[in-house]
Amino acid sequence: MAKATLSFVCQNCGAAYNRWQGKCESCGEWNTLAEEDLTGAASMPASIRSKRRGRAFKLESLTGTSEQAPRLSSGLGELDRVTGGGFVRGSVLLVGGDPGIGKSTLLTQATSLMAREGHRIVYISGEEAVAQVRLRATRLGLADAAVQLAAETSVEDIITTLSEGAVPRLIVIDSIQTMWTDTVESAPGTVTQVRASAQALIRFAKKSGAAIILVGHVTKDGQIAGPRVVEHMVDAVLSFEGEGSQQFRILRAVKNRFGPTDEIGVFEMTGLGLREVANPSELFLSERDLGSPGTAVFAGMEGTRPVLVELQALVVPTTLGTPRRAVVGWDSSRLSMVLAVLEAHCGVKLSGYDVYFNVAGGLRINEPAADLAAAAALVSSLANAPLPTDAVYFGEISLSGAVRPVAQSSARLKEAAKLGFARAILPETARGDAGGDAGLTLNTVGGLSGLVADIAARGSPKPGRDNGKSTAPEKNAAPARFRRQEG
Ligand code: TYD
Ligand code: MG
Repeated sequence: MAKATLSFVCQNCGAAYNRWQGKCESCGEWNTLAEEDLTGAASMPASIRSKRRGRAFKLESLTGTSEQAPRLSSGLGELDRVTGGGFVRGSVLLVGGDPGIGKSTLLTQATSLMAREGHRIVYISGEEAVAQVRLRATRLGLADAAVQLAAETSVEDIITTLSEGAVPRLIVIDSIQTMWTDTVESAPGTVTQVRASAQALIRFAKKSGAAIILVGHVTKDGQIAGPRVVEHMVDAVLSFEGEGSQQFRILRAVKNRFGPTDEIGVFEMTGLGLREVANPSELFLSERDLGSPGTAVFAGMEGTRPVLVELQALVVPTTLGTPRRAVVGWDSSRLSMVLAVLEAHCGVKLSGYDVYFNVAGGLRINEPAADLAAAAALVSSLANAPLPTDAVYFGEISLSGAVRPVAQSSARLKEAAKLGFARAILPETARGDAGGDAGLTLNTVGGLSGLVADIAARGSPKPGRDNGKSTAPEKNAAPARFRRQEG
């Protein structure tokens, strides 16, 4: 009888099959199956797989006292903010990001700062030679830090080396895709190798108490390459993002067993490495197009920190049968929802227009509170009516066209006041929010139609055309577009 061994592994999700097929039935990806020798891969290494009986252990109660996990500060405030206050002993953290985004730079800086504090820090590079890592450190002005370097790829060698002497406080493995272990036969970089190497390193971290940072590559579609299972195995997953053309880099927690996942760390890539940006609002608003239609400032929150950012919309007549909706930095279904509410409840006809929407500075917004600012930017572009430059917007829009309150109004208002804004356009109920108005003039809106009427009234006729109020032809259709359809 033929032995049924699963030997084809999906390189995307890690599912195993016993024969090759074009499509992975588990994740739906095409051409991701590769043959791997799985003998002993799915299970433990042979040394452990002996026929021993289990050992009895003591069961604990939830109310027991345990030591608070001491955290190791990275020396970079923005990195600590995302990890939740530093690295926890025995924890494993995965840092993902596009090639060249600055993962090695970030970790070189952090490890050097920690080594200067007197901690034993080890940096294992599987991608670059020791000389290259040194060169980077010299360029960053950190060559004097006592980081212990090695260019190694064998997990067994690494674990044996690190088991000697004092336990390192932090070990950086750059990157997990270059590591390989003897316990499985597959080539380095395959799912099986990545998974087995990660497992061995995680076991070492838990046993020794050292914190480990694994660097992971990201595939075209933004997933950390290799099996998603590595993401489930580690304690925290951080993603380092940024637009190639821009200097800003955003560190975001995708998963965190020891801290929040809604905090972001903001950095700027300079000639001398990454610089922390403690006040991101100033950065995101530094290059505003003052007074041009289609831009609105959104007072948002990223975790506990308020972040002001400019939303940009461009609404232009379409030449296509199905108008285009292009979105960068925001959820496209959220945009469709706002467009539908504008159309259904405010009489704003957008079906004949292409809509382009962008969040300035490369930030990605996930909050529903951005709805009101997005709607204001869209209507402003359509009506060619610049919004007041000293106003911020926030509020969630419901499908009925009502503007709903959002959390942390006072923090948003304080940040706006600090940056010199004079007015806030916000939901009605937010006025009662404890914490006051921070000295801003509050314009509350109960429904989206009120806001649309306000903006439309500011609409300036385009040069050379008659005023919108006249019976001018449909060409200057701004007021007509906003006329509520009765009946
Ligand atoms: P790197 O950390 O090697 O990226 P990753 O490890 O994520 O692949 O960063 C490489 C990029 O960063 C490279 O394009 C050069 C740039 N860089 C600077 O702009 N300034 C610097 O001081 C350093 C060290 C790198
Ligand atoms: Mg690198």
